[in-house]
Amino acid sequence: MRDRLEDRICSGKARLIPCNKVICRVMDQGAIESSFQAQAHLYKHMFNYIGSMSLKCAVQLGIPDIVHSHGESIALSELVSALQIHPAKTNCVYRLMRMLVHSGFFGTTKVHEHDQKEEAYVLTPSSKLLLTDKINCLSPFVLEVLDPISVNPFHFLGDWIKGDKNTAFEIAHSLSFWDYVDQNLEFKDLFHEAMARDSQMMNLVIKDYKLIFEGLSSLVDVGGGRGCIAKIISKAYPHLKCTVLDLPHVVANLPESENLNFIGGDMFQYIPSTDAILMKHILHDWSDEDCIKILKKCREAIVRNGAGGKVIIIDVVINEKNDKHELTEAKLFIDMLMMVTVNGRERNEKDFGKLFVEAGFTHYNIMPIFGLKSIMEVYP
Ligand SMILES: C[S@@+](CC[C@H](N)C(=O)[O-])C[C@H]1O[C@@H](n2cnc3c(N)ncnc32)[C@H](O)[C@@H]1O
Repeated sequence: MRDRLEDRICSGKARLIPCNKVICRVMDQGAIESSFQAQAHLYKHMFNYIGSMSLKCAVQLGIPDIVHSHGESIALSELVSALQIHPAKTNCVYRLMRMLVHSGFFGTTKVHEHDQKEEAYVLTPSSKLLLTDKINCLSPFVLEVLDPISVNPFHFLGDWIKGDKNTAFEIAHSLSFWDYVDQNLEFKDLFHEAMARDSQMMNLVIKDYKLIFEGLSSLVDVGGGRGCIAKIISKAYPHLKCTVLDLPHVVANLPESENLNFIGGDMFQYIPSTDAILMKHILHDWSDEDCIKILKKCREAIVRNGAGGKVIIIDVVINEKNDKHELTEAKLFIDMLMMVTVNGRERNEKDFGKLFVEAGFTHYNIMPIFGLKSIMEVYP
C-alpha cells in the first residue's frame, strides 16, 4: 500500500497534505483541481446577480446612449466626463466597463488620445438593444425585471416551496402580482412599458408571417396589454380588425384607430367571437388548470364565430435538446420568474400539446421563430 502511494506521489498524481505536521490526508491531483473548479463554478453562480446589477447600472447611467451619441467609440476619460461624475470615480467606471465588456455588452478598440493609444468602448448587438431612441429599446424591460419589486420575491422562494401561499411574490408583497400591478401606478407603468418593448421586437418579423394572418378578417389579442403588438399587426394588415382584450384598468382610455379597439374584461369569463385569437406571453402566466380554462374560452369564441378559426400563441417553448445552452438558460430563468411571480411556467412541446388536447383542440403546429419565442397555431 505504502509503495503504491509513493509511486503515485512520484508520478505527481497524488499529493500529501500536511495537517498539524501529521500527514493525514491524501488527495488525487485531479480531485484537487476539480474541487477548485467546483469552487469557481459555485462562486460564478453565487455572484451571477452582480452581472445583472452591472447591466442595470449601465442602463440607469445611460451608458449605451452616451457611447452611441459620442460616435463610433468612446475613451474612458470621455465616458467619465460625459457621465458628469467626479474624476475620482474613473477607476470605478473602468471596472464597471471591464465587467460589461466581459459579459458582452460592450467591445473595446484602441483610439489615439493625446498622442497615446487609449482603450475605447464600442456598442455590441446586445447594448444596441438598450438605446433609448430606438423603437426596439429593451431598457425598460431591464429596469422592470431588476426592480426590487420583481427581485425581492426570490428571497422567499424556499418559504413558498415549503408553505401554502399562492406565490412567492405574494409572500414578499402581500398581494398577488396582478393586484400589485393594479394598485401601484409607478410599477404598473414600468411593467406595461416592459411588455410593450418586448412586443415591439415583433415588428422585425411580423411581415414574414403573412401566411399566419392571411385570410383572417378579425383578431382578438387576449391579454394584449396596452396594445403594442395589436398596433403592429393592425398596421401591417390593415384589412384585419384587431381588438385588444385586457383587464379594464389596463385598457381604460387608450386611443383607438380604424381597425384597432380595446375591450376591458376578464378572459376567464368571456372572449368576443372572432376569426382568430392571439395570446402572447399569456399561457406562461398560468397553471395548467387555468390555461385549459382560458383555452376553452378561446375555442368557444372561435367556434361561435363560424368555421375556420384558430388560436395563435406566441410563447417560450423549452427545447433543451435543440437549443444552445445560453438560450435554454434564458428560458429556464424566465420559467423561474414565472413560478416566483405568478405561479406560472414555461412549457415544452409535449406540455403544450397536452393543454391543447385537454381544451378540446384537434391539431396544432409549432414554429420556433425569434430567439426565445415560438409561434403556435392551434385549431378547434
Ligand atoms: C405578461 S403580460 C403580456 C402582455 C402582452 N400580451 C405582451 O406580450 O406584451 C399579461 C397580460 O395579461 C393581462 N391579464 C391578466 N389577467 C387577465 C384576465 N383575467 N383577463 C384579461 N387579461 C388579463 C395582464 O393585464 C397583462 O397585460
